[in-house]
Amino acid sequence: MTAPAPSSRPPRAELHLHLEGTLEPDLAFELAARNGVRLPYPDPASLRGAYDFQDLQSFLDLYTANMAVLRSEADFADLTRAYLTRAARAEVRHAEITFDPQAHLVRGVPLAAVVDGIAGVLERSETDFGISTLLIAAFHRDRDPADALDVLERLLATGAPIVGVGLDNAEVGYPPGLFQDVYARAEKVGLRRTAHAGEEGPASNIRDALDLLHAERIDHGIAVVQDPALVARVAAEQVPFTVCPVSNVRLRAVPALAEHPLPAMIEAGMLVSVNSDDPPYFGAYVDDVDDAVTAAFGLTRDQRAALAAASFRGSFLPPERVAAYLTEVEAWRAGA
Ligand code: ADE
Ligand code: ZN
Repeated sequence: MTAPAPSSRPPRAELHLHLEGTLEPDLAFELAARNGVRLPYPDPASLRGAYDFQDLQSFLDLYTANMAVLRSEADFADLTRAYLTRAARAEVRHAEITFDPQAHLVRGVPLAAVVDGIAGVLERSETDFGISTLLIAAFHRDRDPADALDVLERLLATGAPIVGVGLDNAEVGYPPGLFQDVYARAEKVGLRRTAHAGEEGPASNIRDALDLLHAERIDHGIAVVQDPALVARVAAEQVPFTVCPVSNVRLRAVPALAEHPLPAMIEAGMLVSVNSDDPPYFGAYVDDVDDAVTAAFGLTRDQRAALAAASFRGSFLPPERVAAYLTEVEAWRAGA
């Protein structure tokens, strides 16, 4: 018997992934039919054809509109299952999945339908998909911070199985400081803290997320390269940055992959992982993003292993779980 070929991809974690952003056009149409919702496109191919974005807001408009098809606990379960099925093919071994509770509450979808639909699938994700998972509730920075605090209290009161909180949606004009109370409450009850910052907004949003929100991780954060002192600080502190290079190109935050600051961030000694953000919208799941980055920057096997290791190091897993995954990455690096 010959030994199986070593996998061409390292085992990895995905830390920056919006569950609602995993909605494939085919599933959107299936759920639309199930729920009697009319999508303003004749078929899935036409919907996918509309995925051409000028900026973050033009994406958020379509992303939010498509959520109309998500109504029941079963819908959220189907969405979660579809993502995990695809992620398993990408060698994702651990996923930290963000969802946007406010996006559903404003549409009259009960919080329990959202949380129970997702959590019911995540409970079995290690057994069913070979993927450990953690759930993060993100708040919309372009909504009233008081509403975020109210939703956080509801999540806590109902025992929602969240490990942490995040901050997403439109960035420019909504500085992190607005959400100090929400993050202080999250910290007080022992929740982990991440925040989108420096995606379209300035480097000061990254600094404020760290200093005012006590964020432990930064989502995107590509504006960091505009502030050398901040680069030095986050490198020294090994603050994890969950970078999404294909998303940044598709939302025109950077003109082309070749001009993405990822190599500069790595070169500076930052703890950077590569992630997908909203895969079908940007035409790339995390394995596709890995391939694109590997090709664009000519990454070696060691560099790919280092990125995979950073994905586990930047996770909210306990240290012993991180160590176990790092052993697997090292085995891949060594060609085992
Ligand atoms: N929600 C989903 N994707 C997002 C992104 N790239 N930035 C901010 N909010 C988001
Ligand atoms: Zn994101």
